[in-house]
Amino acid sequence: MTQHLPGDLSAREAAERLIRVDHAGEYGATRIYAGQLAVLGRGASGEVLRHMQAQEQHHLRTFNDLIADRRVRPTALLPLWHLAGFALGAVTAAMGEKAAMACTVAVEETIDAHYSAQLKALGTTEPALRQTVESFRAEELEHRATALEHGAEQAPGYRLLSRVIKAGCRAAIAISERI
Ligand SMILES: [Fe+2]
Ligand SMILES: [Fe+2]
Repeated sequence: MTQHLPGDLSAREAAERLIRVDHAGEYGATRIYAGQLAVLGRGASGEVLRHMQAQEQHHLRTFNDLIADRRVRPTALLPLWHLAGFALGAVTAAMGEKAAMACTVAVEETIDAHYSAQLKALGTTEPALRQTVESFRAEELEHRATALEHGAEQAPGYRLLSRVIKAGCRAAIAISERI
């Protein structure tokens, strides 16, 4: 039997928190690609970036609908993610196509870990939400594979770049769950 400790979130609160943070993440993802496309949109990787951007827009629309349907309060930090996402995309793109791809790998690996942890926590509750997270996670892993194919690991300073971006993403996730 599972015990319900006083500090535990109710199932509803847990679902709301999941929707809030995932909405924030998908919002940030669309802004990262917007920043990358502002710099690299006309370059050789433009098509690839637009394809990933379109999938992120679909992810965002889905969480926008969940926010509305379940009357979840979105994170108060959307204006920050609006700017920070675009800046991360534009700065990495300005460093070159491979650095932009390195950014995608770092972001998607963080999101993969995040979505995997959510799926574990969801268990068999919320089957529809579970399916959404599962299918989006699969697409994030596709983005990671695409970015690796496009030379992410050959970006100058790949390891450091990856570490910094992952730390930033993890912080953004932790903050967006709460605020
Ligand atoms: Fe996404
Ligand atoms: Fe993605």
